[in-house]
Amino acid sequence: MSTHKEVKRITTHILQEMKNRGEKISMLTAYDYSMAAIVDEAGVDIILVGDSASNVMAGHETTLPITLDQMIYHASSVVRAAKRALVVVDLPFGSYQGNSKEALNSAIRIMKEAGAHCIKIEGGVEISESVSRILTAGIPVMGHLGLTPQSIYKFGTYTVRAKEEVEAQKLREDALKLQELGCFGIVLEKIPAKLAKEVSESLSIPIIGIGAGRHCDGQVLVVHDMLGINKEFKPRFLRQYADLNSIMNKAIKSYVSDVKTKSFPNEKEEY
Ligand code: KIV
Repeated sequence: MSTHKEVKRITTHILQEMKNRGEKISMLTAYDYSMAAIVDEAGVDIILVGDSASNVMAGHETTLPITLDQMIYHASSVVRAAKRALVVVDLPFGSYQGNSKEALNSAIRIMKEAGAHCIKIEGGVEISESVSRILTAGIPVMGHLGLTPQSIYKFGTYTVRAKEEVEAQKLREDALKLQELGCFGIVLEKIPAKLAKEVSESLSIPIIGIGAGRHCDGQVLVVHDMLGINKEFKPRFLRQYADLNSIMNKAIKSYVSDVKTKSFPNEKEEY
């Protein structure tokens, strides 16, 4: 008899069932073991090892510098912690744009070396060949459309995408293409809620929004932003559920003060 509590792993199939019955899907980022364990334990359905690790963990201005090796390191730590959540890992900038063989090799490394469950990739019709090739290898793929941060130097700003009809139409076509290729879901980032609603309703696969309004099939946020660890980033779409920055700052100041005043460690805290 096992003493461990049986935990049913979320699969892409379960996500599809959630969409079919109208149950919203929760997704948060995590980049390390300790945070992933908290996120998983709290019942989040999908943990995203996002290339936002480049900003959040490494302090880079964009997501472009993070490497495939670094993503694999973050992902393997998260996979060790996730007992229930599906772990999705971003293909970082430069690891798939060259050609579909490069894309497949990068995806295989993420699955094999990190033990991830699926990958996420930015782009639409233009990356069809890569998406197909990865899917053919049996690796589930999640798309990412709208504001795709790896293209920040093409966009020039992080403002809302697809406000104009030409870009909105391209996004509709890209989303449909990703579904037809066999993606199990798509992240829509920072687009008008009306467009996200239309895509969520017209496609059968789960659509997860970030800054894409209420009508998506699920929501994703960067965990450091929603916990208020990161003080600077407060876009309109973000709901901050805690102010951990202040709590941590206060605790660390108390520690510094206790060390300086010789009140830590006391007799009970020594051997
Ligand atoms: O890298 C990331 O955190 C993401 C989310 C913003 C969806 O791709």
